[in-house]
Amino acid sequence: MTVESEEELEGLKKCGRVVSETLAAMGAYMEPGMTTGELDAYGRELLEREGARSAPELTYDFPGATCISINEVCAHGIPGDQVIQAGDLVNIDVSAEQNGFVTDTGGSFIVPPVRADHEALCKATRIARDKAIRSVKAGSKLNVIGKTVEQVARKGGYTIIENLASHGVGRSLHEEPGSIPGYYDPADKRRLWHGAVITIEPFLSTGATEAVELDDGWSLATPPGVFAAQYEHTLVVTKRGAIVVT
Ligand code: CO
Ligand code: CO
Repeated sequence: MTVESEEELEGLKKCGRVVSETLAAMGAYMEPGMTTGELDAYGRELLEREGARSAPELTYDFPGATCISINEVCAHGIPGDQVIQAGDLVNIDVSAEQNGFVTDTGGSFIVPPVRADHEALCKATRIARDKAIRSVKAGSKLNVIGKTVEQVARKGGYTIIENLASHGVGRSLHEEPGSIPGYYDPADKRRLWHGAVITIEPFLSTGATEAVELDDGWSLATPPGVFAAQYEHTLVVTKRGAIVVT
């Protein structure tokens, strides 16, 4: 969507607060022995309490309120009876609709004991996201996002999952300007505009460039022993830079 009024910005911020608070609360609530289904039920309760509805459920009939992806599964993991274990790398992605607005956030968490390689991967991915957020303003090329992410990934010796992308958001889960690559595409001539609402969500990996769909029809996974992390914010692009709403 394009934000055209203060009311729209406030609505987005309100919805953004709900998903970001839900993500943080789920991350804090998570512990070994808990199933991903239990963790998801907690997230659903928090969303419902704020009058928000799960966007993946609403949009794609996703079988869960949130996506919970463990270890080699790096995105779109279905919450269920999988038990969270000590040392797991867990990605939680929360997107929701509230009062006609849709915001999207996500992050990777490490269940202690923390593996140093997981921690380094998470740190680099967070830096990639935050640098990419600082790289955008109205008029800038859309591919500055992938360019910035790629610089950080290269520096840390990481690859980028190329079939997972950032995207337009705001009134629905995936909208204009469509898919925004996490890698540098010099042929992409699209530009960002004042008021554009997008996500920035790099997926850095210890070696994979693609996440492959599993038999459940949802989960996207890297090969055995290869991991990926993701951190996501929803933001509004303005002439002066980005306003993060999540
Ligand atoms: Co998301
Ligand atoms: Co997203």
